[in-house]
Amino acid sequence: VLKLHKKKALRVLITGAAGQIGYALAPQVAVGSMLGADQPIILHLLDVEPAKNALEGLRMELVDGAYPLLEGVLTFTDVAAACKDVDVAVMVGGYPRKAGEERKDVMAKNVSIYQQQASALEANASKDVKVVVVANPANTNALILAENAPSIPRENITCLTRLDHNRALGQVAERTGSHVGIVKNVIIWGNHSSTQYPDVNHGTVGGKPIRSAVNDDTWLNGDFITTVQQRGAAIIKARGLSSALSAANAVCNHVRDWVRGTPGGSWTSMGVVSDGSYGVQRGLVYSYPVTCAGGKWKVVQGLPIDGPSRERLRVTEAELVEERDLALQCLAEKK
Ligand code: NAD
Ligand code: LMR
Repeated sequence: VLKLHKKKALRVLITGAAGQIGYALAPQVAVGSMLGADQPIILHLLDVEPAKNALEGLRMELVDGAYPLLEGVLTFTDVAAACKDVDVAVMVGGYPRKAGEERKDVMAKNVSIYQQQASALEANASKDVKVVVVANPANTNALILAENAPSIPRENITCLTRLDHNRALGQVAERTGSHVGIVKNVIIWGNHSSTQYPDVNHGTVGGKPIRSAVNDDTWLNGDFITTVQQRGAAIIKARGLSSALSAANAVCNHVRDWVRGTPGGSWTSMGVVSDGSYGVQRGLVYSYPVTCAGGKWKVVQGLPIDGPSRERLRVTEAELVEERDLALQCLAEKK
């Protein structure tokens, strides 16, 4: 590990680093997309023993990238060692779903990984580690991680719904022929799954409400919602693999906004441990609109929710309750 910068390097763990998201994410972190162009990084790359060679290949390529911010690239197949002193943990390790599967189908395989890795993080990571779970079922894996790492503050454990948020921004931008940068304040409520509710009722395009800019409620209440809900499956169908570059980009957006703050007047979507806001069961990992400042997120409160939206919030909450119960049952059966 070389020391070249004035700022202390931050340690970023990527689990499942030898996989396809890892391959897209590690270089984005190394160029500063996650923590800023002035923040040196030490990467901790974890994967399982059979992926050891692929992991070493990634390490070699990162060295060959000669990234000015990269002070070290460490590879691991031991979880506890990988978690040592990490400041940010991106939990990508797991089994992606294949065509025709729902995210629930990969549940049993993945939740037990998160149960085990929770203890390793708790015992070894920095006390203020910020965790983002990417591997599916992302919300439920994050819930299992939170339950099994009681000394990590609840608010430090999140899951990725920023990809869905960005997908919603992208759809509205395409439909209105606008630059995506002027589309603001969409919301992803609930689960990172096909029951999620992409809500445009509070969003704007160039300062104008999305509903008037689009001027097509049939599309907004129908195909827009299903396109965002099903986008993951559509990418799997098109590529034969699940999304990787957009997922990696969303991870960087998620952590960057969390650490450096959301821009004034706008919010983002994050899966966080519910405190009961908007009537959602406490303890579920539920995606909400959040603003971030000083390294902390806060749920945007007091948004008026109309009847059809309230129903959609409930549907995705019910799925999360069902997933949680199934996850706990899978874990109990493993004992
Ligand atoms: P991948 O199969 O290419 O990579 C996953 C990697 O995890 C593999 O290298 C595998 O060896 C590794 N792994 C498996 N078990 C592990 C363990 N116990 N510890 C460490 N590493 C382990 O898959 P991918 O395409 O990179 O996707 C990773 C996960 O992210 C999948 O669950 C996928 O469904 C999910 N995903 C989530 C989002 C989101 O928006 N939340 C988006 C895209 C993909
Ligand atoms: C996605 O949304 O692209 C990922 O969660 C992959 C998937 O299984 O849909």
